[in-house]
Amino acid sequence: MNKDNPTSLIVIFGATGDLAKRKLYPSIYRLYKNGSISKNFAVVGVARRPLSNEEFRANVTSSVSGTANDEVDVEEFSSHFFYQPFDVTSSDSYQQLKDLLGSLDDTYVTNGNRIFYLAMAPEFFGTIASNLKAEGLTETDGWKRLVIEKPFGRSLPSAKELNEQIREAFHESEIYRIDHYLGKEMVQNIEVIRFANALFEPLWNNRYISNIQITSSEVLGVEDRGRYYENSGALRDMVQNHMLQMVALLAMEPPIKLNPEEIRSEKVKVLRAIRQIEQSEVGDYFVRGQYSSGDIGETRVPGYREENSVDPDSNTETFVAGKILIDNFRWAGVPIYIRTGKRMSTKSTKVVVQFKDIPMNLYYNRGEKVDPNLLVINIQPDEGITLHLNAKKSGKDITTTPIKLNYTNNCFDGFNTPEAYERLIYDAMRGDMTNFTHWDEVALSWNFVDEVSKVWESTKAEEFPNYEAGSMGPKKADEMLHRDGFHWWPV
Ligand code: BG6
Repeated sequence: MNKDNPTSLIVIFGATGDLAKRKLYPSIYRLYKNGSISKNFAVVGVARRPLSNEEFRANVTSSVSGTANDEVDVEEFSSHFFYQPFDVTSSDSYQQLKDLLGSLDDTYVTNGNRIFYLAMAPEFFGTIASNLKAEGLTETDGWKRLVIEKPFGRSLPSAKELNEQIREAFHESEIYRIDHYLGKEMVQNIEVIRFANALFEPLWNNRYISNIQITSSEVLGVEDRGRYYENSGALRDMVQNHMLQMVALLAMEPPIKLNPEEIRSEKVKVLRAIRQIEQSEVGDYFVRGQYSSGDIGETRVPGYREENSVDPDSNTETFVAGKILIDNFRWAGVPIYIRTGKRMSTKSTKVVVQFKDIPMNLYYNRGEKVDPNLLVINIQPDEGITLHLNAKKSGKDITTTPIKLNYTNNCFDGFNTPEAYERLIYDAMRGDMTNFTHWDEVALSWNFVDEVSKVWESTKAEEFPNYEAGSMGPKKADEMLHRDGFHWWPV
């Protein structure tokens, strides 16, 4: 097998769902188009509703049409797609699927390699994994891998239960837990910026950094995901996974090798060093918010409690800000502030590393002390880094002016950096687990956020809704930084 041009059958559970249409088919298409996957592949879509192969292919074709520019190609591409109506609890469904996989394996010469991709309601993850084993679908001459979407449980105990179920059928080395942030270009770039530059690494610690801010703000509301979101909230939806993964990448020690085991081991050490907060301290370290109606640009949008499938008296948070402390030599005393929310004023994911003030200030900028140096890592929608420095203002006087050194990824690589999902599917096909989350990371992250969610679930947020749609979140999130003498840098 060519490792860089892998061949496999991909079974997608949830083939008629939103994720499959919006992300998975276009990503597989791009991989196919740029020759990253061998022509020896087939995709079997399974879901409850009855569809013929032709109808399914028409859906796939329409979902890649924005990406495609050559109709013949799309037709050839979609001929690799097959559909099977499926009941996840019925033995017959699995037996039919097993026969179909056997025959496709012969037709497409996929050497028995199988990816089972669970892109559907999480309550079925465990059942599917056990049935795949019980019905013999995991017995294959090639490799088998389980790709699993979030949410991976909704607390540590439920995640453990799910993990035990799937581990009966798949070994940890066969489980690819998706955190799509780990597929983003600039999230992957964090370790390179840190460890490939002699300039940054010596300063990357509590002697020179005063605080780090990670913001991931969204303009969209909950859309049609009210039912899921009511049960999740921003803490489980964004903090337990994406935000804590970014914290781990920003704070980890240099790995001794760039392999999945070594990188994971460094990330795990960071997650273990995060100071566990007591339930009585949650109010000091975390702020929750929920949006009211408001204006996004010219458009008036409803409040969270008016969204579909949302309780009109909902206690669910759509915004979280938190202060994370890492109790180790490198980071003791440096707060890492995180902030994420829906219906905020801008869609942006950014990391701002604020360096400490110079020891003695000789220079002024219009009567004010000079600004601290900042390293901003722009994750999305812009991709790049900006370094904020101070320089002399042109002219006779020695006064300073802030300047920015900018690197924008888009200028160099065109606007088409691969989509997160494109990389992650490719990595799963090649067997590279680096950008997937290991169970140890999942467990530690739940362990940390569980204390917060216990408090939030058991106490009603009387102040909800407490931020207007189109704003940057509740005032309390600003006050949390002011108490420490900081403020959020604009995103
Ligand atoms: C998902 C969350 O994991 O990430 C969504 O479930 C959120 O609620 C999304 O909108 C944000 O992803 P991105 O890539 O748009 O920042």
